[in-house]
Amino acid sequence: MDNEALMMTIAVLGGTGKEGKGLAYRWAKAGYQVLIGSRTPEKAIGAAAEIIELMDGGGSVVGMTNPEAARQAHIVVLTVPYSAHRDTLESVKEELKGKLFIDVTVPLVPPKVTKVQMPAAGSAAQEAKQILGEDAEVVAAFQNISHEHLLGNGEVACDVLVTGTSKNARQEALKLVDAAGLTGWDAGPIENSVVVEGLTSVLININKQYGSSHAGIKITGAKNK
Ligand SMILES: NC(=O)c1ccc[n+]([C@@H]2O[C@H](COP(=O)([O-])OP(=O)(O)OC[C@H]3O[C@@H](n4cnc5c(N)ncnc54)[C@H](OP(=O)(O)O)[C@@H]3O)[C@@H](O)[C@H]2O)c1
Repeated sequence: MDNEALMMTIAVLGGTGKEGKGLAYRWAKAGYQVLIGSRTPEKAIGAAAEIIELMDGGGSVVGMTNPEAARQAHIVVLTVPYSAHRDTLESVKEELKGKLFIDVTVPLVPPKVTKVQMPAAGSAAQEAKQILGEDAEVVAAFQNISHEHLLGNGEVACDVLVTGTSKNARQEALKLVDAAGLTGWDAGPIENSVVVEGLTSVLININKQYGSSHAGIKITGAKNK
């Protein structure tokens, strides 16, 4: 457990759901203080208890409302369905000032989730940047990692492409990718999140066509360590 982890608090908004709970588990295991955010504090407290149980009672995971979690954290991660993306962001906007914000949202439009349907802003992460304002540091990451991987302890056969508004923000997010036990790549500016978010529909399509549940991607021909 490194010292940086011990000093950092990560809020996972929508952390009661599948993807957020998985990420929260991985970061709690790495020694981070994790706050689970929800619209309903009781639901968040229940999700936090589930994660602590997975860790045999260890780890620091606490449940609360989304705005309270965002207020208390150094880094804020958003894992809600795209239909809830704007409203959730508006509800925590003031709490995000000066903090690193990591968007995991994929702009899926049910029922056609196997078809890429990007929003007018370009991507969910670019829309977040528009909502949060000029000074906000926004990173997009983890869109291609199935939640099925995250609550397990095994090696994950899928890499994480990290895009974001600055190199520094991407580097900070890559530390969290590493802490989650995953392989991450600096995939460039936030505009490139269009490709990464869109790739999720391609992976869902592959799952449907080939009877899998967690198709992923691996970068070849480069070394990141
Ligand atoms: N599941 C995956 O494998 C996966 C993989 C990569 C990326 N993602 C992306 O990650 C995000 C979360 O996915 P998920 O599968 O974890 O979703 P989920 O389980 O359906 O929902 C996550 C949480 O979002 C909150 N939420 C749901 N509907 C809401 C609404 N209408 N308004 C406000 N909050 C709402 C709920 O929290 P409360 O009820 O506690 O508020 C819920 O527990 C999505 O954008 C998804 O595309 C998912």
